Amino acid sequence: MTKKERVKILVKHSAPKGTHDILPPDTSLWQITESMAKEIFEKYGFNEIRTPLIEHTEVFIRSIGENTDIVEKEMYTFSDKAGRNITLRPEGTASVVRCYIEHNLHNLPSPQKFFYTGPMFRYERPQKGRFRQFHQIGVEAFGEAQPSLDAEIIAMLSNFLKKINLEGINFELNSIGCENCRPGYKTALTSFFERKREGLCPDCQRRYISNPLRILDCKVNRCVELREGSPMIPDYLCNECKYHFSELKERLESLGIAFIVNPELVRGLDYYTKTTFEATSSHLGSQKAVAAGGRYDRLVQEFGGPPTPAVGFAIGMERLITLLKDRRKISMPVPDVYMATIGSDAEIEGIKIAENLREKGYRIEMHYGGASLKSQLRKADRIGAPLALIIGDDELKSGRIKWKDLNKKEQGEVEIHNVSALLKTVRGNDSK
Ligand code: HAM
Repeated sequence: MTKKERVKILVKHSAPKGTHDILPPDTSLWQITESMAKEIFEKYGFNEIRTPLIEHTEVFIRSIGENTDIVEKEMYTFSDKAGRNITLRPEGTASVVRCYIEHNLHNLPSPQKFFYTGPMFRYERPQKGRFRQFHQIGVEAFGEAQPSLDAEIIAMLSNFLKKINLEGINFELNSIGCENCRPGYKTALTSFFERKREGLCPDCQRRYISNPLRILDCKVNRCVELREGSPMIPDYLCNECKYHFSELKERLESLGIAFIVNPELVRGLDYYTKTTFEATSSHLGSQKAVAAGGRYDRLVQEFGGPPTPAVGFAIGMERLITLLKDRRKISMPVPDVYMATIGSDAEIEGIKIAENLREKGYRIEMHYGGASLKSQLRKADRIGAPLALIIGDDELKSGRIKWKDLNKKEQGEVEIHNVSALLKTVRGNDSK
């Protein structure tokens, strides 16, 4: 086989670029994190919502914005067999808004609060912390304009991050104004960049026309330099937005949540109004936001629903898990018992005993088919089982089963019907 052929086979048998498999024991960490989020979010009145992974492409164009990177370059879009334009969701907010309107959820008492988990898809250039399929846990709350709700969801995020023992997270906060004050700010930015325009990167030259705020978000060095001294949004906020922002800051301070105001935090999605925020970590490299969100008071209405203020955020699971793995070692779960059997009658009895113990809550690994006792015990040791139960013809006849503590190297016998009592004493596990 030539090298080219080998590479071809490898490509065919590896996950597509920018996607990844999540394997045990990492999956345990994912499960613990997701169930912790669910537990905390439910305390704040958020209920789970599940929307399809695909939507009509229009849903994302109309919400995220025609001139954003996501819509211009990153969507996985295709025509289905009936010629419909379909897109794999690049984020969750647009789908939840579509769902909120479709099911007339605005008729229910406000605020309506939802959370979701699942994969998102963006055709981005993969790098550390940036994938083409990634996972988010997101929350969206509809029908309340008060800054107390913004403060509450930031507190909820902060509590969640504390609960999973994630330290060193910074909250960055900004207000990007509303339809009344943002046009004035955009004009100020446009005139600031007018004479610097030629020096901007090609993306920012386009942003100069489509949405000059996004120039503030650009990571290209020369754009960072050129924007030095640019007008700052806090100076352009209308009274309502100023008041909303100061009330939010006051509430966060009273809750003891530390934050820094970052006037350049404009976010890459077009739907935001007023509050924007990110939870960042310096341990993540350039993709430092572990969670991000903000207010989007006009989106429901722009989608054809009634005027409905809304606010939410999404946590990037891969980034969160990277930070957690840096802090704690995770190991493969081990069985409580390895069931070693010699002979087919003993195997039949062993299966019954194993079923019985699993029903009582124990984690049991079985030996399947014939092998010497020595090799079965070696396997039990290799997978980390602390206890082996051994059953053969003699044990079947006597009704007594052998046990071996693989850590303490002790052994003994027990009546078959007393096995679970033995597990309680030998394993010291009274909860099962
Ligand atoms: P976003 O900033 O695009 O916002 O994504 C939120 C989080 O998802 C990011 O902070 C990051 O942790 C993670 N993330 C985004 N893209 C990638 C990627 N390519 N690879 C790995 N992780 C990624 C939204 O998606 C908004 N829908 C958040 C929101 C909810 N705003 C209001 N409600």
